[in-house]
Amino acid sequence: MASNFWRVSLGVGAMAALWMSGVAAAEDASTRQAELVKRGEYVARTADCVACHTTDHDKPFAGGLPMGLPMGNIYSTNITPDKDTGIGSYTLEEFKRVLREGVTPDRGNLYPAMPYPSYTKMTDDEIEALYAYFMHGVQPIHQENKAPDFYWPLTIRWPLKIWNWMFLDEGAYQPKAGQSDEWNRGAYLVQGPAHCGTCHTPRGLAMQERAYDETGDEYLAGADIASWHAFNITSDINSGIGGWSADELVQYLKDGNVRGKGQAGGQMGEAVEHSFSHMTDADLHAIAVYMKTVPAVNDGDTRPRYSYGAPGDDFLRLRAQPVAQDAASDRGARVYLENCAACHGPSGQGSPDGYYPSMFHNSVIGTDYHNNLINVVLDGVKRKTPGNDVLMPAFRDELSDEDIAALANYLSQQFGRGDMNVTPKSVKALRND
Ligand code: HEC
Ligand code: HEC
Ligand code: HEC
Repeated sequence: MASNFWRVSLGVGAMAALWMSGVAAAEDASTRQAELVKRGEYVARTADCVACHTTDHDKPFAGGLPMGLPMGNIYSTNITPDKDTGIGSYTLEEFKRVLREGVTPDRGNLYPAMPYPSYTKMTDDEIEALYAYFMHGVQPIHQENKAPDFYWPLTIRWPLKIWNWMFLDEGAYQPKAGQSDEWNRGAYLVQGPAHCGTCHTPRGLAMQERAYDETGDEYLAGADIASWHAFNITSDINSGIGGWSADELVQYLKDGNVRGKGQAGGQMGEAVEHSFSHMTDADLHAIAVYMKTVPAVNDGDTRPRYSYGAPGDDFLRLRAQPVAQDAASDRGARVYLENCAACHGPSGQGSPDGYYPSMFHNSVIGTDYHNNLINVVLDGVKRKTPGNDVLMPAFRDELSDEDIAALANYLSQQFGRGDMNVTPKSVKALRND
């Protein structure tokens, strides 16, 4: 009896212990899985996958965003784990191949509008975490992909293999000997997941970026992207951002606003909102450390964009002068006084806390590229970050093309380098873009 009792209870005890260890193992595995998914979510932030793969914010990653190619638009695809319309049946290897080579399991080669020439540098570790996130951390959404706006034979994708052969430098980032871990992390982020060159590096005839790292010419030397200009962000003191401190660069990426330097509008504002402002301070600092070493490219500028201008005093004269007596040359100043001065100050000095930026020492005004300034006036600025909520109203319905042209030329003369030369026609083109 007694021995039986012991045998049974020992057996039960062993089974219980076994069961407990099974539970613990399963718990371990699910904790590990949850950690991987969380890490993948962070990687997706650094790579800003949401930027191109989301059109409706209630349907994250369901795709459908048009992207212009010379022959017409293509559309970003559904990358939720939906099995029919998304990437739910991708294996890890297939997912890796999309990021490294731009090749999908069933559609063949992708256009490099998907920045795989940058993502190719992502490490296996980060791609695995990203995969776990897309498979287990993203809601599946059933939404069919849109076909391109152009037709056969332009839809044939095999020529993209030749593109890859000519331009794709495939493979994970290799840390540079002799550089610090921080520099290498920064280089990795800038060249790989954060793909700064997609917007900031000028492109060649086949839409390839002229350089994919600091060893090539014109790397990050400035490029047009849709109707915006992504400035030269090399370390050149005058044409680039050589005069920005590392802390200022961190602040720009985190908040989108650095007093006396510039603010992030357009696609940069979106990248700050969705990607950079969610990155750790350590990662942002690593980016800044690397950016300070990107070889300088000078475009003939003799002073930095942010260095131009001083407070103006037109408001004193115009305040005392009835509008009917305005000279034609007063138009821009008048438009400024009536529409902008309430926030940016009558002398263009901005608000004391810098929330409303100054018009002088502002990179969007101290340049001869007028697109960014006009886009800001037409559409305003809207940017939400964990630390800040920024809103400038749009003036597209309040101001005519003539008003905006006069305003931009006034801002350029009063607060910039004086050579914007905007015509109503160029405002109209941007308005209709
Ligand atoms: C700059 C825009 C852009 C960004 C950023 C971007 N993608 Fe894409 N992606 C595209 C476009 C455009 C396509 C479709 C290209 C085509 O049809 O040739 C695409 C296609 C894909 C596909 C292929 C889906 C299929 O089976 O057809 C996957 C997977 C994908 N992207 C994943 C990602 C992931 C993961 C990220 C973030 C690491 C990301 N993308 C970031 C633009 C982007
Ligand atoms: C999706 C496109 C895009 C990406 C990706 C992007 N940028 Fe930008 N960037 C822009 C545009 C457009 C502007 C101009 C913004 C404006 O004028 O309001 C800009 C402006 C800037 C400026 C301000 C320059 C000045 O003189 O005012 C800095 C600094 C900058 N970007 C750094 C970076 C870094 C570093 C990365 C990568 C971590 C990056 N950007 C990624 C589009 C982009
Ligand atoms: C209601 C307040 C308000 C008014 C009115 C206003 N702005 Fe702004 N403006 C802002 C805010 C807020 C920002 C964003 C600051 C930031 O990015 O952190 C901004 C940003 C800017 C920038 C920098 C944008 C960039 O991307 O670099 C310029 C240039 C500018 N405004 C010009 C104007 C002009 C010209 C007018 C008049 C037509 C005007 N603003 C009217 C509030 C205002």
